[in-house]
Amino acid sequence: MRFTILTVLSALSASLATALPTELTQFFLVTSDQSDPNANSSQLRGVHATTPYAEDPVSQSTLLLRLIGAGYNSLPNFTLTDGVLATTTSGPHGIGSVTYNSTAVVAGQELQFMAQQQEGGNVALDGGYLVTVDGETEGWTICDSARGMDVLWWRGEGSDCKSTFLHAVSKPPYRK
Ligand SMILES: *[C@@H]1O[C@H](CO)[C@@H](O)[C@H](O)[C@H]1NC(C)=O
Ligand SMILES: *[C@@H]1O[C@H](CO)[C@@H](O)[C@H](O)[C@H]1NC(C)=O
Ligand SMILES: *[C@@H]1O[C@H](CO)[C@@H](O)[C@H](O)[C@H]1NC(C)=O
Repeated sequence: MRFTILTVLSALSASLATALPTELTQFFLVTSDQSDPNANSSQLRGVHATTPYAEDPVSQSTLLLRLIGAGYNSLPNFTLTDGVLATTTSGPHGIGSVTYNSTAVVAGQELQFMAQQQEGGNVALDGGYLVTVDGETEGWTICDSARGMDVLWWRGEGSDCKSTFLHAVSKPPYRK
């Protein structure tokens, strides 16, 4: 009995040691059915890469985060400062580069980014990798946007919504 527990414990700590990400400053955001980390993001259960998405491509006033499958060219990465996620992407009509900052995350709304400075936010990384809102890891949902894309919400309640976890990872998934 004692042996079994020790074996399990040592196997667990060995896998945690290899799986735990180290201080990510620039990271990619992916959704997964599991909350445990995996150093290889492609192996996270039900993983999806995400990319900023303008529901209104003309104004690009607000960016949401939509799921994206294999075959993307490149993905913008994110930073986290004072509870605010930031991502640098091309501006309207693909011109220039603009740093979009996440607004305070609110239940029943999409995770939103605006081309404005934000006075602190409510996002953090639990264990250095799992994205939380007000300290909570559970509550992310994937729901349809007005234009039918799969986008990330906080506590979305539509019948099409499905729960997920949001991971910060050092390398995007589905890459060989
Ligand atoms: C990550 O996992 C994928 C899928 O299992 C595999 O194809 C790939 O080789 C792995 N990458 C590394 C660096 O181990
Ligand atoms: C993150 O994106 C910036 C460009 O916005 C790029 O210079 C940097 O190399 C990227 N970092 C990673 C880890 O991909
Ligand atoms: C986003 O926030 C950063 C840090 O506060 C700021 O430097 C940047 O100008 C903001 N983006 C825009 C478009 O205002």
